[in-house]
Amino acid sequence: MKSTAPANASAIASHVAPHYASGYTSEAGGAVSILFVDQSGQLGGAEFSLLPLAVTWAARREVLLLSDGPFRTRLEALGVPVRLACETRVSEIRKETVQVNWLMALPGIVRQIRSIAKHAESFDILFLNTQKALVLGALGKPLHRKRIVWHLHDIMSGEHFGPLQRWIVKWLTRFAVDHVVANSHASAASLVALTGCKPESVPVVHNGVDLDEFSHMGDLDTGALRRRLGLPEHVYLAGLFGRLAPWKGQHIALEALARLPDLHLVLVGSALFGEQAYVESLRQQAARLGVEDRLTFAGFRDDMPAWMKAVDVILHTSTEPEPFGRVIIEGMAAGRPVIAASAGGVTEIVRHRKNGWLVAPGKVEALAEAIETLQAAPELAQRIADQALIDVGQYFSVEAYLEQMKRTIGKVVV
Ligand code: UDP
Ligand code: GLC
Repeated sequence: MKSTAPANASAIASHVAPHYASGYTSEAGGAVSILFVDQSGQLGGAEFSLLPLAVTWAARREVLLLSDGPFRTRLEALGVPVRLACETRVSEIRKETVQVNWLMALPGIVRQIRSIAKHAESFDILFLNTQKALVLGALGKPLHRKRIVWHLHDIMSGEHFGPLQRWIVKWLTRFAVDHVVANSHASAASLVALTGCKPESVPVVHNGVDLDEFSHMGDLDTGALRRRLGLPEHVYLAGLFGRLAPWKGQHIALEALARLPDLHLVLVGSALFGEQAYVESLRQQAARLGVEDRLTFAGFRDDMPAWMKAVDVILHTSTEPEPFGRVIIEGMAAGRPVIAASAGGVTEIVRHRKNGWLVAPGKVEALAEAIETLQAAPELAQRIADQALIDVGQYFSVEAYLEQMKRTIGKVVV
């Protein structure tokens, strides 16, 4: 996998920090210190969502990571203090295998619970950003006695999680978590359904995107951009951005590619959480369908604005309801028409034919038709992309996201 450390990290830091920085105080007026906890060293959507919050939190803050990886490098390059509390056996537990592995990982689990509790001692709030962080941070509450904020990035349904994980989350939410913030109404509703808590106790803050990051690319010529990125120049090019994983549905895009002989497709992203068998199956599927010469595997990339601006249309193909879908608002910010799978948080972002195009999840025919339609009607595609840019600025800016997150967190310590 490509290294994900930004080449111009100090430039990013000086750009990001003053841009969003403001004071963070509780409603009672005191500066609120936070220990953020995240299980992943990889750069996924939950981590990209934590990044600007951790960078711009003006009071004392630290990020405790339960695995090492490029997320640590990125945080440190942006001036955020990071600590590691890694336990290999615990990191190996996946949501699909939680029942099988947790017994073997028990000593590591206990060590991590203690480690989080110890680090939390000198902070006002424990901010848990992922499922494992929630479980380990909340189980340690009798030790640390800190107020817990959980940022929910998932739809807590049986499609995404096994019964044991759902059961644990249900009871921890009831008895240990003080405050939940959900990344979409879809995620919030799933938690309400699971726990029976009041809908008003799960506020929703949608993710935001840094529009400057996308606009600084200006009106760079698409041809030059494609040459620079090694993409085919004089073709209609679709892009699918995000980690390679079965539920992200890259195989659906490959099937659509096979039905549209003039189309080219670039897959940007890599298998972040051990889905190597899926990557192999995609390569085999491409060979079987005879689409290899119209398909590019770009791997994980740091410069999403460039890759998004280089394509004609952006696809989102998740086969299960997407909790939010940062790649969709990023595609909108890049000024490209986005065709997205209509489920979960996606329907809170995309209005069909207005600022994007919705298709039923997992439906190859519908996806191929949508691509054909937008290719055949460039004015319609442009109109949609223009509206998308307006909407993303109005509803999904990183400034609005940070403002709402900080206001919500500020209410916790009163
Ligand atoms: N991403 C990236 N490089 C890649 C692929 C993805 O930086 O090669 C980023 C993408 O820009 C987005 C995030 O990874 O911010 C994926 O977030 P999303 O919410 O779409 O999906 P998740 O993987 O968290 O479910
Ligand atoms: C999770 C979800 C994704 C969401 C991201 C940020 O990774 O899978 O849909 O966009 O969190 O909230």
